[in-house]
Amino acid sequence: MKKDNKKNRILFLSCFIILWIMVGIYIFNHQTIKDKLKEKGYPINEILEIKSILQEKNLKLLLKYNYHQNIIHIIKEEDFKEENLQKYLDFFFQYKTADNYDIIYLVNHGEENISYNKDIHEILHTKDFKDSNFERYLAFYQEYELNGDYVVMAVNQDLDKEDIPVDDTVLLFLGKKYSLTRNLERYKNYYKTHKELEVEEIIARVNSNLDKTFYKDVLQTDLEKDNLLIVNKFYYLEEDFIPDNLVSIDSKYGRGEIKEEAYQAFLELYEEASKEDLHPYISSPYRSYNRQNQLYTNYSNKDGINKADTYSARPGYSEHQTGLAMDLGTSNNTNINDFENSKEFEWMQKNAHKYGFILRYPKGKEYITGYMYEPWHYRYVGVEAATYIYEHNITYEEYYEYFIK
Ligand code: DAL
Ligand code: ZN
Repeated sequence: MKKDNKKNRILFLSCFIILWIMVGIYIFNHQTIKDKLKEKGYPINEILEIKSILQEKNLKLLLKYNYHQNIIHIIKEEDFKEENLQKYLDFFFQYKTADNYDIIYLVNHGEENISYNKDIHEILHTKDFKDSNFERYLAFYQEYELNGDYVVMAVNQDLDKEDIPVDDTVLLFLGKKYSLTRNLERYKNYYKTHKELEVEEIIARVNSNLDKTFYKDVLQTDLEKDNLLIVNKFYYLEEDFIPDNLVSIDSKYGRGEIKEEAYQAFLELYEEASKEDLHPYISSPYRSYNRQNQLYTNYSNKDGINKADTYSARPGYSEHQTGLAMDLGTSNNTNINDFENSKEFEWMQKNAHKYGFILRYPKGKEYITGYMYEPWHYRYVGVEAATYIYEHNITYEEYYEYFIK
């Protein structure tokens, strides 16, 4: 019994001593690593202050590399991961001019073997860079070796998922205002025969379908778009289409029927205008398919089809059938042909959009809308769309293709 006790005591004492020796060695080692790092010029206290958890094995790792002040910056980076230190340092010493953020980002994403250059740097720093598209940017870059901002733009627009070969012509249109990936092929084709036009003009035209033929390449319009549906020489309404929520216009404001929402907006508009003693008057709102048919037939008999097509829509193609359009005169003179010379017109030009109305067939845009200038014809699209269209001076054709379709 006594013997056993003694043995235990010796064992315990030995363990105790060994433990202390180990602690001693550790402290000594640690101290030596620190000293060695200091000798190499490392501001070791600063490093430990930033990352107090920096493990011994990483301190040892630092010893393998000569000190460079960027090492501190790398360690300071927000996404710095201790387990990647060796890879960061390898990357840094391979590409001395690499951006610290790039080093951290690439290594953290397993791209430490990438052949780093200014395009890769640009990709990572382009404004619209999306983390979730990172792998696709790299793949696209490897295929086309484009500038970084083009790569980001192209992939963000899913160009890498389309079958369009990216050539110089496509690059002309990439990332331009109102440029749509789904229309790139069409911009390219239009460009071939219209090289004299500005890129922006080609985009505006193709987005308005001008690479197609009026009344030939037609589609039934999407009624789901509600107040933002489009009706023009490419988009038609069925013969039996009658808008819902048509209301009768009070004789004080006009005649006929119009959609309720457009009417409410008009009443607000009227109230404001009347404060300035101005009294717009709705001369022609909703028109049925049959009514439009009568009108168009009369006009085309009188002036011929070509002329009639410049000012009258064929049945099914008139915005008036939507119940969202109105032709304005004034209470004093309901003739729409005189509207342009009225104070009411002047007022409408400045204020219509505030109530959700746009001048639908503006001067200078005849080739886009397909109709001559109509100072009297307004279309209800809601305040947001109307304000955008007013402020950016675009047609509804362009707005619809880009924002609504
Ligand atoms: N005047 C317009 C274009 C129409 O007939 O609908
Ligand atoms: Zn009209």
